[in-house]
Amino acid sequence: MSPPPEQPQPSPATFAAFEAAKGFMPADEGLALYAAASQAAGLGLPVLEVGTYCGRSTLLLADAARAAGVTAVTVDHHRGSEEQQPGWEYHDPEVVDPHTGLMDTLPAFRRTLHAAGLEEHVVAVVGRSPRAAALWGRPLGLVFIDGGHTDEHATADYEGWVPHLTQGGLLVVHDVFPDPADGGQAPYRVYRRALDSGAFREISATRSLRVLLRTGTGL
Ligand SMILES: C[S@@+](CC[C@H](N)C(=O)[O-])C[C@H]1O[C@@H](n2cnc3c(N)ncnc32)[C@H](O)[C@@H]1O
Repeated sequence: MSPPPEQPQPSPATFAAFEAAKGFMPADEGLALYAAASQAAGLGLPVLEVGTYCGRSTLLLADAARAAGVTAVTVDHHRGSEEQQPGWEYHDPEVVDPHTGLMDTLPAFRRTLHAAGLEEHVVAVVGRSPRAAALWGRPLGLVFIDGGHTDEHATADYEGWVPHLTQGGLLVVHDVFPDPADGGQAPYRVYRRALDSGAFREISATRSLRVLLRTGTGL
């Protein structure tokens, strides 16, 4: 199920910046994310992402937030997920801080957002997702879960942020792979949990990006 062509589109400049940015999201998933963010931003509430990395997907949330006059919030400790550490499949040596020897995607993220002219529309939270969620105290129009892909992290993201998602808001989960041969199962389990709670209905599926509408209050 891809978004129909009449779905809202990001500005050409934002989409070019998205395609040029470091990151893992293909264009069709990005357009589906943008469509979801546009719909959710229309609720007049902030849209929130867990997993900023270098800002590729953040650009799309920021563009949708700008159009609706709301704020995009993006949360990341910027030290990388397990699979992004040295020696692992998704490691990029360009985002290692030579002073600490640790991954630090914050500088690349800030450059990306600045170059796209979208800084004004984003609040970046640097820290661990569960800690940030524990401090959060207001409704959200969209929660996009694309942080750590272990069960521990994906579950904490779900349990930390979904209670803040308003009725009629959207839960977006990335890297949902029903077949274990295609990828890790933690995001899929979170997606299943949302559907099985009875509080969500799926409204779009584009590759591994799933968009669920909050129709009830469960978790
Ligand atoms: C797959 S990347 C995000 C990709 C990004 N959404 C994009 O499309 O370009 C996952 C990110 O989640 C962050 N992350 C992992 N676990 C986290 C946690 N518990 N709290 C905050 N950030 C976390 C990592 O640092 C990494 O940058």
